[in-house]
Amino acid sequence: MKSNEHQEQMEKIVSLCKRRGFFFRGSEIYGGLAGFFDYGPLGVMIKKNVENIWWNMFVDSPEDMHGLDASLVMHPQTYQASGHAKNFADPMVEDTKTKKRYRADHVLEENGVDVVGLTPEQMNQIIVEKNIKSVDGNPFGEVTQFNMMFQTFVGANADADSRTFLRPETAQGIFTNYKNVLDTLHPKLPFGIGQIGKSFRNEIAPRDFLFRVREFSQMEVEYFVAPETWETHFANFQAKVWDFISAVGIDTSKVSELEVADEDRAFYSKRTIDFEFEYPFGKKELYGLAYRTDYDLKNHGEVSKVDLSYFDEEKKERFIPHVIEPSFGLERTILAVLSSAYSEDEVNGEVRVFLKLKPEIAPYQFAVFPLLKNKPELVLKAREVYELLKKKGVRVIFDDNGNIGKRYRRQDEIGTPACVTIDFDTLEDASVTVRDRDTGEQKRVKIEEL
Ligand code: GAP
Repeated sequence: MKSNEHQEQMEKIVSLCKRRGFFFRGSEIYGGLAGFFDYGPLGVMIKKNVENIWWNMFVDSPEDMHGLDASLVMHPQTYQASGHAKNFADPMVEDTKTKKRYRADHVLEENGVDVVGLTPEQMNQIIVEKNIKSVDGNPFGEVTQFNMMFQTFVGANADADSRTFLRPETAQGIFTNYKNVLDTLHPKLPFGIGQIGKSFRNEIAPRDFLFRVREFSQMEVEYFVAPETWETHFANFQAKVWDFISAVGIDTSKVSELEVADEDRAFYSKRTIDFEFEYPFGKKELYGLAYRTDYDLKNHGEVSKVDLSYFDEEKKERFIPHVIEPSFGLERTILAVLSSAYSEDEVNGEVRVFLKLKPEIAPYQFAVFPLLKNKPELVLKAREVYELLKKKGVRVIFDDNGNIGKRYRRQDEIGTPACVTIDFDTLEDASVTVRDRDTGEQKRVKIEEL
């Protein structure tokens, strides 16, 4: 595909998401709020399906994993210890006339500069030397570091003592609860804690629909290990990330690994692999797998003065566990799933849009239709089949609006894998027509076989 086709595909996905109720712009009736999106009725169903697959794979199934749901607002010292107060910043430049702010590294990349390892001072120098201007043709000011945490105040006083931040990663809630889990469940190393929840980053330039937003969900594991074993566990999680990518139906041929260079790694990591996906707007980070060493527990131990060491009964050794962290963005997952699933073909000379979603991910697994809306006996039977499937725990939708062709198109567009039509034969022999979303093939099956 050429780049304008990619752009077109992205626009089609965005428009489908809005039209069919997957995502809406946050605060839309007030003109929207940049970097915020709301999940619509169908979006929230996909979200839950992705979360369920992740939770089952990373928390429920493994014996050595435990779940957690920590607060979004944390004690300000958390961020001193974690390093976010000091280091969680992106380089920023301001258009001196419009006052619009940009990510300095993005501006340089767009001007063909390799930004790996550049300090803000070096970025500044290059902008001056190359006479790089803003999109509005104005000169830039100095490159500064902008901390991305959202601050808030706890309680009635809005002063320095009550100031804290919304968490920029779910991970910190896991580190601050590590000792609670250790003291209550007494797990032996290696063990892990998994969590799904919101994170907040005041991104300088949110963009590309759900890709870079200011409020998003993360699905994270912090896996605590003996220091000398980290490489084995890192490799295990590396394989497991691929398992998850396949399980949610992301096109694996569009995913690749990137060994993140020393200068480019987050401040807490000694090794990071980024899993990148070829989004319609370019190849970008989907997930990260990091070896966080003992960085977080050591620092939280020092700042809180609470002993966060682990005693190995067998070796009679006390040490701070090291950490392997696979980190998954939920919105980036959904965007990669939708980009992988978006398909078009031609039916009766018309373009048909369909989402090839896996049944585990699709908002509905089945749609049930009465062939004719004005035949009460068909509507009644279709309702019966609908209720039957619902009782079995199947995600099913009832639709009697418009002709059958239109109903198929509507379900194709939201990725429903199978449509079940109730007709006059159903009343005679309890059989129904099941139509496949991807091939359009129709089969006659008994209701009990559904
Ligand atoms: N705890 C590690 C951590 O937060 P990260 O690479 O900053 O590492 C992890 O973020 C994942 O969270 C990313 O790989 C991505 O999937 C998602 N993510 C990060 N920033 C995001 C943003 N602004 N919008 C949407 N997803 C984001």
